[in-house]
Amino acid sequence: MTGLNTYANLVNARMEDLLPPANDAPSILHEAMRYSALAPGKRLRPALCLESCRVAGGNPSLALDAACAIEFVHVFSLIHDDLPALDNDALRRGQPTCHAKFGENIAIMAGDALFALAFSISPECEVMHELAHASMALVQGETMDILSEGTEPNPQTLTFIHQRKTVALIAASCAIGVRLGGGSDQLVAALRTYGNHVGLAFQIADDVLNETATAEQLGKSAGSDRERNKMTYPAYFGVDESRRLAAEEVNQAVAALDGLNETHQLVEWAHFAISRER
Ligand code: IPE
Ligand code: IPE
Ligand code: MG
Ligand code: MG
Repeated sequence: MTGLNTYANLVNARMEDLLPPANDAPSILHEAMRYSALAPGKRLRPALCLESCRVAGGNPSLALDAACAIEFVHVFSLIHDDLPALDNDALRRGQPTCHAKFGENIAIMAGDALFALAFSISPECEVMHELAHASMALVQGETMDILSEGTEPNPQTLTFIHQRKTVALIAASCAIGVRLGGGSDQLVAALRTYGNHVGLAFQIADDVLNETATAEQLGKSAGSDRERNKMTYPAYFGVDESRRLAAEEVNQAVAALDGLNETHQLVEWAHFAISRER
């Protein structure tokens, strides 16, 4: 994805500077943070933040530190999500998970430290508030996700999980970008709505990919949701209906951009949320 790569390069370079040097003590902690954060993720959330800033009329550089903070929260969530106590996954971003490489104790600390780092670089009160609120939702969603393993899927719980574990941070990425770009409350609301729909489409697609793709393709484990009896869209709706529902969310995301200028990139990424292969 062209636009995604451009922003990813900016974010990677800035994250490299913001992360503690690997040689600082305790070096294993900093190595683990860098290992997970600098691994080849898609950087969709930071890209949404930077592009939302641009759409609001701001130079994306205004939102670069916030975009990195968002990615650090995301990486914290991935490290902890993969732990044996949660999803117990061995592969992430095409490499061994943080705990598989550094041990469970260090992986827990690396997640904690990335979470703290995120807030240490978000000076604006409003940004901190957005990020904290989304992080709380994320943890609530992850909790409900593991509590729901092996229980009968139902649409209410499914929505609860997805809205919190994934949608909240994606929508916040857009809202934070608009705020830092100096956009109006109205634009914050429009892009938050866009983010809400993209986020849900994105997580439904994640569920579908877990069911239909290979670990090699995804760079993370496949088929694991079914194995762990996770409450997912395919588990309740089946793969075809899940795909249809995700496409509907994409349409609604695009509709939320109606009447706004310079949104072609956001439109493209709404489609990418479900067309992606990993
Ligand atoms: C994975 O997120 C976790 C979900 C919320 C589905 P991404 O698919 O954005 O993971 P990376 O950042 O590209 O590795
Ligand atoms: C996605 O969790 C949301 C997170 C907070 C990581 P999943 O467990 O569904 O995502 P993957 O498939 O491990 O990336
Ligand atoms: Mg999980
Ligand atoms: Mg997982």
